[in-house]
Amino acid sequence: MSIFDTEVMKGYIRMGNEGWKQGWHERNGGNLTYRMKASEVEDCRPYFYDHGAWVSLGMTVENLAGEYFMTTGTGKFFQNLVVSPELALGIAEINDKGDAYRLVWGLNDGKDRPTSEFPSHLLNHSVKKAANPDYRVIYHCHPVGVIALTFILPLDNKVFSRALWCTMTECPIIFPHGVAVIPWMMPGGLDIAKVTSGYMSEFDVAIWAHHGIFCAGTDFDNTFGLMHTVEKSAQIYLNILHSGKPILQTITDEYLLAIEKDFKITLNHEFLG
Ligand code: 13P
Ligand code: ZN
Repeated sequence: MSIFDTEVMKGYIRMGNEGWKQGWHERNGGNLTYRMKASEVEDCRPYFYDHGAWVSLGMTVENLAGEYFMTTGTGKFFQNLVVSPELALGIAEINDKGDAYRLVWGLNDGKDRPTSEFPSHLLNHSVKKAANPDYRVIYHCHPVGVIALTFILPLDNKVFSRALWCTMTECPIIFPHGVAVIPWMMPGGLDIAKVTSGYMSEFDVAIWAHHGIFCAGTDFDNTFGLMHTVEKSAQIYLNILHSGKPILQTITDEYLLAIEKDFKITLNHEFLG
């Protein structure tokens, strides 16, 4: 047995590798965090080290006190998650005040650091957990289609939500609340973390202009699937534009409302009309 035989480790690495195969993670682009269940922590605990020093988070996330997070490391490449996972990712424990973390496994035996977007991930986890404790995954990547759209569409929640909803029929079902769009900001800090988490009480998808996407979900498959759906719709939208042909028909509001009724979902009606 090794830690890599645990289901949680297998699921995490598989998801990260799927993102790499999609082309969403050039170099060290993107990051993935997972709030572990108590049973998963116990599965991994035999492999923990106890030399990790507490590191201040520079903020307090009270409702994450005592939680354990799997996280990619800053500067680490997703392509290496399957090659050298003990270098590319780690497990961090949050202290009982929720204002510091320490590494308990991985990341080069604790010599390296969690992703520079750890503040954004933790604030998003905090907001999501408060709203629905089933949420456990925060995923950030750099997909071509959505990033391209942030150059040609107004950076507006309604415009982006409608563009994505009305391009592929499953979209309103997969993200009925739509998406939030955040104008360009400096990555890796507390400012962008606060703005992003401000949207996460309402949305599962936040788009960072000219940078990438943050998605939140309950498990690896659903979160990956959400990212995949958003990006696929963006790719179709771009292909339509590339064709240079006039749009003759689309998914109308009438169709959106019919989908809402049939699939028993609640669409964000602010984005209709
Ligand atoms: P990290 O290497 O620190 O995870 O940063 C990658 C990234 O995508 C920053 O937004
Ligand atoms: Zn990024």
